[in-house]
Amino acid sequence: MNITKHIALFTLLLMVFSCQTETKEEKQTASYAEELHSFARPNTSAIKHLNLDIDVDFETEIISGIATYTIENNNATEIILDTKFLVIDNVEADGKTTTFKLGEFDELLGQPLTIDIKNSTKTITVTYKTTEKTEALQWLTPQQTADKAHPFLFTQGQAILTRTWIPIQDSPQIRITYDATVKVPKELMAVMSAENPKTKSANGEYSFKMKQPISPYLIALAVGDIEYKAVSNRTGVYAEKSMVDKAQFEFSDMEKMVVAAENLYGDYDWDQFDVIVLPPSFPFGGMENPRLTFATPTVIAGDKSLTSLIAHELAHSWSGNLVTNATWNDFWLNEGFTVYFEIRIMEAVYGKDRANMIALIGRQDLDDEIENLKKEPNRTKLKLNLKGKNPDDGMNSIAYDKGYLFLRTLEETVGREKFDVFLKNYFKTHAFSTITTEKFLNYLNANLLEPNNITFNTEEWIFQPGIPSNQAIIASDKFANAEKTLNHFLKSDTIDASLTIDWTTLEWVHFIRNFPKTMTAKDVSRFDEAFNLSNATNSHIAMVWFEQAINLDYHGNNVDQNIEDFLIRVGRRWYVETLFKAFEKNGKTEEALAIYKKSRANYHSVTANTIDKLLGL
Ligand code: BES
Ligand code: ZN
Repeated sequence: MNITKHIALFTLLLMVFSCQTETKEEKQTASYAEELHSFARPNTSAIKHLNLDIDVDFETEIISGIATYTIENNNATEIILDTKFLVIDNVEADGKTTTFKLGEFDELLGQPLTIDIKNSTKTITVTYKTTEKTEALQWLTPQQTADKAHPFLFTQGQAILTRTWIPIQDSPQIRITYDATVKVPKELMAVMSAENPKTKSANGEYSFKMKQPISPYLIALAVGDIEYKAVSNRTGVYAEKSMVDKAQFEFSDMEKMVVAAENLYGDYDWDQFDVIVLPPSFPFGGMENPRLTFATPTVIAGDKSLTSLIAHELAHSWSGNLVTNATWNDFWLNEGFTVYFEIRIMEAVYGKDRANMIALIGRQDLDDEIENLKKEPNRTKLKLNLKGKNPDDGMNSIAYDKGYLFLRTLEETVGREKFDVFLKNYFKTHAFSTITTEKFLNYLNANLLEPNNITFNTEEWIFQPGIPSNQAIIASDKFANAEKTLNHFLKSDTIDASLTIDWTTLEWVHFIRNFPKTMTAKDVSRFDEAFNLSNATNSHIAMVWFEQAINLDYHGNNVDQNIEDFLIRVGRRWYVETLFKAFEKNGKTEEALAIYKKSRANYHSVTANTIDKLLGL
């Protein structure tokens, strides 16, 4: 070999080598997007697996135990976990006690737990306990449960609360597998977002395994006197004894929903899809904890009329749990896609009429939200900027309803067939990873818009406030009919109830929400006489009716007492916030405060925080 050849070879090798190190470096720095809501620095050391060994003590209302993590160590000398309101008793690195520091407390983010490690360290172990301030947990007395005999506990991790019950790198960009051993009083059963028991154990000890990597906000635990009933061989319900048959009936279409979802966007990747019906203080309608959706009992209407919530949480098994928003600024990628997918599932199982009614209610919510935010238009952008903000306060229905409208507009522009192929590939390509808005944009351009030669104002939809003018128009004959009936009732002396005979819950909701602002309390009372809406057993109908009773200053048919009872019993934030907002908006702060004094103790921290702010407490 002559010298030039030597040099050429050397240069080539150098190029290959430097190229490799460059991609490696690029991968390391580019692999985690900027994170505003976690102290962790996963580029240098990231947790990969969690082994949790905890004791749930209802006497002291404390969870205590040991968390062991397997870590990916890129030559690090420390690893940082997020904690908030936790007591750290001891920390080990590869089985030997090591030094650690709890940093300064931040109101929003908590405290970084910085642990000294060696570049060879593979596992760390933290012995810790929760405190009475721990925000993820709600400990319920027997009185707050359906059966009134035993206490209950549930966790809520999203958005940044997992760190209040487990020390963790609490960013959605982190993905870990986990297993857990949980000790509870032996009359109770424990379930998690993992492979779950179907019967009680003899000694109150349960073990769990989540073998797919999930983001920390999806780690969840519920403990109570619950039972399991199957709906199909891969779907079923957990609930207290007095609720479990009702839940099994209400959710009896679950298997059909899973089949419809799989037909749309590919296999269900989590084996089992169960729902646990929690006590009514649960702060959300539903929470998509993998394999085990947590749900409010207010969806159990007796007629399956509110089960789009199950379609929604199921849809998160793809949009959210499989393909996860990289940061909370990209929250619309979780919720907008999920509302779109939810409505497609509902259309496939129940038909277009029902799907369009759900879509149109969302469309009206979107108008209301834009009106609410008219002084803060930046908050109507899909891509958020939550710097210095609690993701929980920064999020609103924009992510859901504008996100939906964007995707529906896109679908109508490119045609459903192409859009479905695109979405199916999107989920497959990004399965078990996280995605930023910008990465999504590139993917959309490269895989849907450019190949089909379509120009679309994607950037306007995502980065600008308000609703672009090319928005899809959503219409519903059923709602048009409900509006016609409302106008007819308002004009006539008598109310012909037979005109509403075939109405579903959604038509009732639309009818009530469309009351003119000028409607008199007397008109309200005529409707109440005809339909007894002040005593509606359907929670959604009750909520919108109560809202109107507050708006229109109606006090008949025991409605005031019913509103108070509802607000004391139910902790679902959307309902509670709607009603307290109505009090505020109508200058009825005193009534609001009087009720809140009695109801606050029943609320989970996320609901209480929202209402505290709303009422200026
Ligand atoms: N993941 C959300 C709940 C959530 C959002 C918790 C943000 C914490 C922070 C869940 O999937 C959801 O959207 N629930 C809705 C359901 C509805 C849109 C059908 C709810 O609770 O009302
Ligand atoms: Zn959701």
